[in-house]
Amino acid sequence: MVIARTLHELRELRQKMNGTVGFVPTMGALHEGHLSLIKRAKMENEYVIVSTFVNPTQFLPGEDLDAYPRKEKADLEICRLAGVDGVFVPTEQVMYGEDESYLCAPRIRSYTLEGIKRPGHFDGVLTVVMKLFNLVKPTKAYFGKKDAQQVMMISQMVKDFFLDVEIVPCDTVREKSGLALSSRNAYLSAEEKERALALSKSLHHAIKLIKNGERDTDVIESEMLKILNDVDVEYVAIKDRLLNEVPSITVGDTVILVAARVGSTRLIDNMWI
Ligand code: PAF
Repeated sequence: MVIARTLHELRELRQKMNGTVGFVPTMGALHEGHLSLIKRAKMENEYVIVSTFVNPTQFLPGEDLDAYPRKEKADLEICRLAGVDGVFVPTEQVMYGEDESYLCAPRIRSYTLEGIKRPGHFDGVLTVVMKLFNLVKPTKAYFGKKDAQQVMMISQMVKDFFLDVEIVPCDTVREKSGLALSSRNAYLSAEEKERALALSKSLHHAIKLIKNGERDTDVIESEMLKILNDVDVEYVAIKDRLLNEVPSITVGDTVILVAARVGSTRLIDNMWI
């Protein structure tokens, strides 16, 4: 497995890859969720490249950029064991310069949901993903559905800029308890982890209501809020796959999303219906 730290090293690695390349962009602190993306990329491509870069431009002032878990040694070992061909581990200086061009995520849809509390977050995500795509030139790129709005913003960018890469949204991996895996779960105490289960429980309750024939989004949202009474809810939302408001559920084109703080940790979860 090649570890590329500079643009030159990455380009050299990429040039040697004669075939399809699956790309898994991450911010490191790899867990089973990332591993499932890597496994899928390995199944569907001749080569796999993973990047582990904690991208500063997607963190707002006061967010957890400094505290964000950094586990380079363990990440490289996970990638090696998973049979990854190359890992890109750049520094901020490698990825960014002074007074650079910067991408704007769609102004309306990037300022809803996550964008309300994290304005500008998706500009940073799209900018770094565009840089990474241009360097890695992947055939397919793999993203977790847990970051539903991110998957939608990136898919939109690929469409808008005519990029030649296929975006593959992958199912969320959960603990047995139902808690969606996230690098930020590391911040939770045992008691907070227990309370955090309200997020997945509220989503499961929504699914149950839908299975029983309920279609009204207001009714489902208010039922979900009852289960979320012990966490600090930021939003509960039911949208179509393009993040438009919908008055009622259309199976095959709906995402139910929730974001909440548990203690000082901000968690998100969702289910695609
Ligand atoms: O989902 C993430 O880990 C990050 O937002 C990404 C896509 C790697 C961009 O920094």
